[in-house]
Amino acid sequence: MNNNNLKFPLIAIVAMNQNRIIGDGNKLLWHLPGDLKRLKSLTIGTPLIMGRKTWDSIGKPLPGRGNIVLTNSKSWKAEGAIVVNSFEDAITKSNQWIEKNKLINNSETKDKIFLFGGAQIYKLGLQYCNVIEITKVIFDTNVGTKFPILEEGKWDKIKLDHFKKDESYPEFSYWQYRRINKL
Ligand SMILES: NC(=O)c1ccc[n+]([C@@H]2O[C@H](COP(=O)([O-])OP(=O)(O)OC[C@H]3O[C@@H](n4cnc5c(N)ncnc54)[C@H](OP(=O)(O)O)[C@@H]3O)[C@@H](O)[C@H]2O)c1
Repeated sequence: MNNNNLKFPLIAIVAMNQNRIIGDGNKLLWHLPGDLKRLKSLTIGTPLIMGRKTWDSIGKPLPGRGNIVLTNSKSWKAEGAIVVNSFEDAITKSNQWIEKNKLINNSETKDKIFLFGGAQIYKLGLQYCNVIEITKVIFDTNVGTKFPILEEGKWDKIKLDHFKKDESYPEFSYWQYRRINKL
């Protein structure tokens, strides 16, 4: 993809455990209090670029956001999904979503695009991100879908918040990674 296509910042958002596990291939592995609320407040008014498997795992469009779904299929469709067959087209459709929604609902629409996962989509898009919003979860498994390895020394790691474990949820923390040499 040509970087010139990126009119708005692309930000990755992910929750992963200490082994970079993000899910079991079909769904998330944990439930964290407040995490979905935080995800909503960060992403409302933006387009989300997700893989078809992540779409399937959610099962419906996330309201107030552009649901851009990557698939290789020329015939796949789902109500509420904006279907694309290439990462470049995902960015083009995201740009269009922002421009169109600004006309309709300027106060809610944000000038950013979220790289929403899963692993295949992070692999495609991380190279275009300057920021990653990470929820780190202490959850004991090494089996499942993995977030790509990030090169050491390339990211500033800022810890935003930390939550101790409880009977009903594991220990977790919010981080923002910022690329040191901006793209
Ligand atoms: N913890 C988190 O923050 C988080 C976030 C998102 C997802 N997840 C988890 O991640 C898992 C799913 O991840 P995943 O890596 O298996 O799947 P995924 O990235 O969600 O989707 C993969 C699909 O995307 C399509 N695709 C991939 N590359 C493409 C390309 N270059 N061009 C066109 N289409 C392309 C293909 O769809 P077709 O097969 O239709 O061709 C492929 O099968 C689930 O467990 C989910 O819960 C976790």
